Amino acid sequence: MKAPAPLSKGTSLLLGLAAAASTLTAPPAFAEARLPPIDRDPNRCERAYTGNTIGQANAVSDKILDLRQCNFTGKNLSGKVLSGALLKEATLPNSILRETVLTKAYAVGADFTGADMTNAVIDRVDFRKANLKDVIFANAVITGGQFEGANLEGALFDGALIGNEDAKRLCANPTLTKEGRADVGCRIK
Ligand SMILES: *[C@@H]1O[C@H](CO)[C@@H](O)[C@H](O)[C@H]1NC(C)=O
Ligand SMILES: *[C@@H]1O[C@H](CO)[C@@H](O)[C@H](O)[C@H]1NC(C)=O
Repeated sequence: MKAPAPLSKGTSLLLGLAAAASTLTAPPAFAEARLPPIDRDPNRCERAYTGNTIGQANAVSDKILDLRQCNFTGKNLSGKVLSGALLKEATLPNSILRETVLTKAYAVGADFTGADMTNAVIDRVDFRKANLKDVIFANAVITGGQFEGANLEGALFDGALIGNEDAKRLCANPTLTKEGRADVGCRIK
């Protein structure tokens, strides 16, 4: 793990979450084949602005936050709790996700180009095939994530708290560029 920035109250909460998460090696919340049909609620995308309540923080709620294919281009979802959210193929370029809790989110194929995930809790998120180009992961907590096939070009991880296995997976991704590799602490190529 990289040394965190000087601790604020929020950061120490995140550190606690990271410690809890690092002991878990849970599989992703949803295997591809087991995804439910898309929620027919016409306001399902709007539910992101409410997010999950505290009791749902570990994605144990029976009402899934179904944000698949929703368009949050440039939207501000800072501080929202999107635990267990289905974000498959969602559109989130330039969205603001500062301090957003994405525990167990399923974000396969989602487009986060240029999103600001500063201080976000990125715990067991499935980012396979996601577009993470130019995403700012500054001071984010990243544990148990999957990054296979994700585009990490220009992504920055300044001060992020990154689990060892996550760092290995990030460094193994050929798209991670020089500055990102330095932030993550990858070996020099
Ligand atoms: C998402 O919404 C933006 C405007 O907010 C629009 O420009 C863009 O085309 C939309 N993208 C998709 C995939 O619907
Ligand atoms: C985004 O939302 C947060 C929380 O509501 C707010 O504090 C922040 O100022 C907003 N940022 C922008 C750029 O609108």
